[in-house]
Amino acid sequence: MKKDTIGDPMSRVDGRLKVTGGATYSGEYKVAGLTYGVLVPATITAGTITAIDTKAAERAPGVLKVITSFNALKLPGYQPTAEKPVKGLKLFNDDKVYFNGQPIALVVADTFERATYAATLVKATYQTAPFETDFHKNLDKSIVPQGGRYKDYVRGEADAYKNAPVKVEQQYLLPSEMHNPMELHVTTAFWDGDKVTIYTKSQGVKGSQRSFAAAFGIPLENVQINSRFVGGAFGSSLRTWPHEIATAQAAKMLGKPVKLTLTREQMFTLVGYRPLTIQKIGLGATPDGKLVGITHESYSQSAVYEEFTENSVNVSRFLYASPNANTRYKIVPLNVGVPAPMRGPGEATGSFALESALDELSYLLKMDPIQLRLNNYADMDPERNLPWSSKYLKECYQRGAEKIGWANRKSEPATNKDGDWLVGYGIGCGAFGAYRSASQAKLTLTPDGKINIKSATSDIGPGTATAMVLIAADVLNMPAEKITFELGNSAFPMAPTQGGSATVSSVGSAVHDVCLAFKNKMLLLAGKNQNSDEQLDYAAVLKAANLPLLEITQESKGDETAQKYSMYSFSSHFAQVYVHPLTGMIKVKKVVAVVDAGKIVNLKTASSQMIGGAVGGIGMAMTEEAVMDDRFGKLANGNFADYHVPVQADIPQIDAIFIDKPDPIINPIGTKGIGEISLIGVAAAIANAVYNATGKRIRELPITPDKLI
Ligand code: MOS
Repeated sequence: MKKDTIGDPMSRVDGRLKVTGGATYSGEYKVAGLTYGVLVPATITAGTITAIDTKAAERAPGVLKVITSFNALKLPGYQPTAEKPVKGLKLFNDDKVYFNGQPIALVVADTFERATYAATLVKATYQTAPFETDFHKNLDKSIVPQGGRYKDYVRGEADAYKNAPVKVEQQYLLPSEMHNPMELHVTTAFWDGDKVTIYTKSQGVKGSQRSFAAAFGIPLENVQINSRFVGGAFGSSLRTWPHEIATAQAAKMLGKPVKLTLTREQMFTLVGYRPLTIQKIGLGATPDGKLVGITHESYSQSAVYEEFTENSVNVSRFLYASPNANTRYKIVPLNVGVPAPMRGPGEATGSFALESALDELSYLLKMDPIQLRLNNYADMDPERNLPWSSKYLKECYQRGAEKIGWANRKSEPATNKDGDWLVGYGIGCGAFGAYRSASQAKLTLTPDGKINIKSATSDIGPGTATAMVLIAADVLNMPAEKITFELGNSAFPMAPTQGGSATVSSVGSAVHDVCLAFKNKMLLLAGKNQNSDEQLDYAAVLKAANLPLLEITQESKGDETAQKYSMYSFSSHFAQVYVHPLTGMIKVKKVVAVVDAGKIVNLKTASSQMIGGAVGGIGMAMTEEAVMDDRFGKLANGNFADYHVPVQADIPQIDAIFIDKPDPIINPIGTKGIGEISLIGVAAAIANAVYNATGKRIRELPITPDKLI
């Protein structure tokens, strides 16, 4: 019997279902008596709704209900007196408008088309208020976020770079970017008495369950969340959004199942985005390339009605061994929808600025950018003064340099030519915390000798079930085809939300532990020594013990070693670009992604994940930018025609290389996570390659041809 082993390149266990249309996504469940909801967006950017005329919409064919703040069922969790008040926007709870496109009504009809038509008939009148959407104009109104997590940081002397013999002092801009997963956000909700069943796009079914229960003031067990397949999310489904709650609210008011699908345009305003961010970096060094000071300040856009924060400055505290480092982080509240973490999240933003500035420093020093990084390599975490649980970033530099052909790089910019084209090479590095949260997994052995494992985790695309099956096969010494893994159901044992690259570390540990516990249980049943290596015929053991089946649930704890070690995945991205000097056209010719993410569970899906992250990074570097029209406080390009994501023709050969050495500390498998690190550093690698090719330093993304001519 061939066993499958951690590290094997295994195809997705649900791949066939996905490519044959057999996988059911949240918008595809057949529910009897289904009705269709369509949102009506506000046409002002700030103010108060004075009246909503819904008569024409209510008279339109097939319309069942038009819900507004004037008639909506009051939700207990939306009231200030609630035990756990719902944070953020409370849809249809009051008459306030905070941003353009905020839903002011929900039209429910017997078909999607009729609801869509009737939504155009809803007419609101408003008392408008002054609004602010211009980030640059409001920069002086930036505030330190509440909560104390984003305090200023100082190690040694603040702004020490200013007195260094060689220094870089620059500002970098990253525009707002949209997640734009292929699958639209869809929610279907129906009630049975005071119990609600929800199909929704979710990165965490347990988190969704808590959100719905809090909003409706009902016990957790009255909320059933299903999110078995998710067509991409990139962070946009880390939380429950107000329109999801409104779908269940409508279903409750109507006494019928309601499905609400956002339009692609609504995806630009209602489900978060990477916030517009300005970063100021100061780097100071000695003439021989030793950093003496790093200063990193970040200003990010946020919403007036809810604070959003992320780790954009943190990387500058620990990635390089500078004796002096200080960071500041502020947000600028505006009349916009609230941002959300978007793949990489703040770390990708921060790395673009830090790694661009470091590249600038390397040219001032006339030093190879890799040598500069080696000169300032942090053997310990300089922020926390702790050892790394593992760090193989030097190996990343070396393997990436070999693969991209770094030896062909010319240190003098704009001197490397291939025909008409200028050729350049760049490197960008990053780190992302290796997190682990408490998780449970339940294993069931059936008389046919097959194993089923369940956990309330998610799969937004990385191949969660595939990784879990492989981990179980390895521990149980069994072929993968005898094992199934189920997820995306809030009734399953507890698992964290799929975010922060922690699923394999967290849920994988629970799967690992439940399989070990199961093995020992089987040895015990068979009268053998615990922890023996003997391979049992599990079906035979079950039969001999006269058991119909065997169930076992195990919980694996979260980080217990986080106080003693600093745990991060590290990456080094390399890019080769061609730039046409007359047209400014940029061709990314090659990307090499090298990552130290501990042990790699499934080489095949992990490579796909690294490639996907690099594609996201190419979009960040080259095409993506949400443009606000500040005259109206409305996005000028909030649709797929005008907002550009990279297409197949923009994407070159991408090589994913894994150091693949297990981390000895973080968890029993040795994994550190790759979801976010796959994007961190890519934009800087490309911007640095563009500089090497052209001598033009682009500090405002995206790098479009007009900026190069
Ligand atoms: Mo990731 S941005 O935590 O989905």
